[in-house]
Amino acid sequence: MSFSKKIINIVNEEFEAKRDRSEAVRDERLIEIYSKIPEIRAIDKELSLTGVNIMACAIEGKDGLSERIEALKQRNLTLQEKRADLLTSKGYSADYTDLHYACPLCQDWGVNGGKMCQCYKSRLIEEQFKVSGISNLIKTQSFETFSLDMYERRDDMKELLGYALNYVDDFAKIKDNVLFVGGTGLGKTHMSTAIAKALIENGYNVVYETAQNIFFDFDSDRFRDRFSDEEPISQKYLDCDLLIIDDLGAEAVNSFTVACLYNIINTRLNKNLPIIASTNLSSKEIRSKYHDRITSRLFGEFTIKMFLGNDLRKIKK
Ligand SMILES: Nc1ncnc2c1ncn2[C@@H]1O[C@H](COP(=O)(O)OP(=O)(O)O)[C@@H](O)[C@H]1O
Ligand SMILES: [Mg+2]
Ligand SMILES: [Zn+2]
Repeated sequence: MSFSKKIINIVNEEFEAKRDRSEAVRDERLIEIYSKIPEIRAIDKELSLTGVNIMACAIEGKDGLSERIEALKQRNLTLQEKRADLLTSKGYSADYTDLHYACPLCQDWGVNGGKMCQCYKSRLIEEQFKVSGISNLIKTQSFETFSLDMYERRDDMKELLGYALNYVDDFAKIKDNVLFVGGTGLGKTHMSTAIAKALIENGYNVVYETAQNIFFDFDSDRFRDRFSDEEPISQKYLDCDLLIIDDLGAEAVNSFTVACLYNIINTRLNKNLPIIASTNLSSKEIRSKYHDRITSRLFGEFTIKMFLGNDLRKIKK
């Protein structure tokens, strides 16, 4: 699990608000009930004194202590039953003035039996989907919807699918940098999204973006207020557990984008944080488009995976 602080804060604040809301609802209901059934106020007052009464028993002495505590317990039970009867007789549910939590398992604390509650984890994942940039894509693109039927060289693609599934399972160990190469419409984005979705569900911080938008974000950060407390938008591309750069080569290459790309690749290599990049360009086109600094990294540090199929552009050539 390595959700970003930002996401954890968002979800923690949300859970705190949920607990506050439950208490506010309970308080409002108490006010309502006390005015409609004043007897309940008296009962609650007596119930709230139980602890004090037990202390008083203990101070009084050891003789008959357990009997006296037992009597208090019985009195408590009787009061609670009476309280419930009063509520139901007036048409309320017996637990009307109890605290009602959105998640009874963790009472909206996010922790259940010393472990992260599923409700909390789901919210973290949902929030991570939002910041990862794949909220929309995962609706249609995942491993479940990735089919091998459309490929002519099905065995090669089957192997690639196996590689991707294994990449997810062994992510903590593998951390390969991967370059998906192949013509348009062959499933590179679909496969990348599937990997992202599965890793996010396993608690990893994955960011997906097209190369063009990544460079755009780095560009806008050049004009940001340097004294701002907010982290630069581009920071996530350097920090996340896995960065997916889609459509590399579709951007207009210039000295700024090359410097950015070099920075991203180097920073992440140094931190052992992997990248999966996709490109429609052939290796020859990559070499002619990018400086040696980049291509030596791409071909030296990345595992190349070919998407093979009916690529019309290649057939034309
Ligand atoms: N193996 C596949 N199984 C099912 N749908 C696929 C597969 N590969 C691609 N698609 C679908 O075809 C469309 C184009 O695929 P995409 O992943 O965008 O291709 P690429 O990124 O290689 O250009 C998308 O709607 C995608 O969901
Ligand atoms: Mg694509
Ligand atoms: Zn819960």
